[in-house]
Amino acid sequence: MATLLNNLQLQALFIAVCLFSSFFCLKIGETCSKDRDCDAGSSCQTCAANGNTRPRCTRIQPTSPTSRVIIFSLINYVKGLPFNRYSWLTTHNAFSQAGVRSSTGSLIIAPMNQNDTVANQLKNGVRGFMLDMYDFNNDIWLCHSSGGKCYNFTAFQPAINTLREIKAFLEANPSEIVTIFIEDYVESPSGLTKVFEGAGLKNFWFPIARMPKNGEDWPTVDDMVQNNQRLVVFTSKRAKEASEGIAYEWNYVVENQYGSGGIIPGSCPNRAESSPMNTKSRSLVLVNFFRDLPNASASCMDNSAPLLSASKTCYEAAGKRWPNFIAVDYYEKSDGGGASEAVDEANGHLTCGCDRITYCKVNGGNVTFGSCDVPKLAPPPPAAAITSALPSPSNFASQGQSVHLLWLSGTILATILSIRREVSFKLK
Ligand SMILES: *[C@@H]1O[C@H](CO)[C@@H](O)[C@H](O)[C@H]1NC(C)=O
Ligand SMILES: *[C@@H]1O[C@H](CO)[C@@H](O)[C@H](O)[C@H]1NC(C)=O
Ligand SMILES: *[C@@H]1O[C@H](CO)[C@@H](O)[C@H](O)[C@H]1NC(C)=O
Ligand SMILES: *[C@@H]1O[C@H](CO)[C@@H](O)[C@H](O)[C@H]1NC(C)=O
Repeated sequence: MATLLNNLQLQALFIAVCLFSSFFCLKIGETCSKDRDCDAGSSCQTCAANGNTRPRCTRIQPTSPTSRVIIFSLINYVKGLPFNRYSWLTTHNAFSQAGVRSSTGSLIIAPMNQNDTVANQLKNGVRGFMLDMYDFNNDIWLCHSSGGKCYNFTAFQPAINTLREIKAFLEANPSEIVTIFIEDYVESPSGLTKVFEGAGLKNFWFPIARMPKNGEDWPTVDDMVQNNQRLVVFTSKRAKEASEGIAYEWNYVVENQYGSGGIIPGSCPNRAESSPMNTKSRSLVLVNFFRDLPNASASCMDNSAPLLSASKTCYEAAGKRWPNFIAVDYYEKSDGGGASEAVDEANGHLTCGCDRITYCKVNGGNVTFGSCDVPKLAPPPPAAAITSALPSPSNFASQGQSVHLLWLSGTILATILSIRREVSFKLK
């Protein structure tokens, strides 16, 4: 009787947890009706552009490559590798947020590339930001303009606002590293230096002197964290490397063609400013994968299988180097794994030689390159909301949400224990 009671309560508890709490239950690919049905780090989306009209849980956060949590023990298992041994989710025109008004008060007449703030992107694990900076209104602004000139109707907001969001994030997360790629139209003397100083970001600056000049490894992420050199900034203006100490991007990075010329299947040409993709004297590889004209409804399609395929094409083109930065529009949109999965894949290969970073085999806290633990069930099959409430042990291992599940199971266990105590108290 007591067992039956417990079982019933247990079931009721799980259903209650799924239906009423803020803890998420559904795995990637499973049918959902709202974001809150889905596991942490995912949202409920359709992708009509490629025929996926069934709302499914879709990832919006990559697995952090520098600290992955395994059930019951915290293991920073691929920590401490050189910076160029990781891949980072990067947002193209990170500031160009759909639906916002210009801080000038004007309507914005410019293509929009993302659908949330930089602060929210940081929360979702984006670590690379492409920002277009202009002289405007006696200040430096983020604009999505053309001809090198910013107007009210192409001006989003003063750059310092967004830079302050990044500073707040770096302060609150002392082991995180952020990279900024400036499309630089600033001509005012020391304009960039002033705005980074104003935002308090100079304290986090990774100095040019420490950037490898001939294809060597970067310092390790641990080193960057210990020295608090956690902001890597690149400019598109060569002269600023000498004049302001801001790294000229293509001295350090190879990058494929941006826009529609960069999304042709099977091809990964370098952009004009970059050395050829296979130039090994540049230690970092950036892959652009977005259209000339951003299209919010097509992004879910682009950020799915075609992105994974482009990442592999560019890996070959770059002399068998996985991308360190994967830059997309509407980063949170896809038909399942999306840009997060592309980043997890690159991180798997870069850090442990496995197809996903979540497959790196951990042995007593250590990872041996090439030793992989591929889950049998990946991705999980679609299922109804309630029956999937109990995650199977293999899902525990295969997903990167262990902390959350740990938390969840801990909470459930605590509740069950308290219910049991209550029941036995009443029986007495
Ligand atoms: C641009 O916006 C400013 C307010 O920030 C306003 O004073 C100015 O008149 C606007 N310029 C044009 C051409 O509309
Ligand atoms: C942006 O997100 C909001 C809220 O989720 C949604 O209503 C809107 O359609 C989205 N816009 C685009 C362009 O994706
Ligand atoms: C955007 O993408 C959708 C889905 O592929 C397509 O139907 C639509 O025509 C595109 N819009 C533009 C302006 O290209
Ligand atoms: C893990 O690596 C450390 C440091 O290299 C070593 O001392 C330890 O024995 C290793 N543990 C296992 C289980 O291999």
